[in-house]
Amino acid sequence: MTYVVTDNCIMCKYTDCVEVCPVDCFYEGENTLVIHPDECIDCGVCEPECPADAIRPDTEPAMDEWVEFNRKYSEIWPVITQKKEPLPTATEMDGVPGKLAKYFSEAPGESD
Ligand code: SF4
Ligand code: F3S
Repeated sequence: MTYVVTDNCIMCKYTDCVEVCPVDCFYEGENTLVIHPDECIDCGVCEPECPADAIRPDTEPAMDEWVEFNRKYSEIWPVITQKKEPLPTATEMDGVPGKLAKYFSEAPGESD
């Protein structure tokens, strides 16, 4: 199993999650993060750290698409290991539905 980053990270990107990961398997896009499913050791410590509740175990229903999403972008975006300021839109965009279709950017993040 693995944990994955899901829709509600988009346009928030709080980054509290990256500091607790023991294997540094978060990767940064312009407006969201992803977890590499093959590097995640399923420790679960990142899940409660996310203010947006965006990190889910793949054992929950309908997670297959998110596992593939996380895998795809973790292979092309830079690793991120240090917390940074949330996006300026974090508060207003937390909980907004349909962010993947409306707001997701494929551009890489700036990394550490
Ligand atoms: Fe890292 Fe553990 Fe979260 Fe996986 S579950 S991304 S290993 S902190
Ligand atoms: Fe995103 Fe939550 Fe981490 S909003 S950057 S998964 S703390």
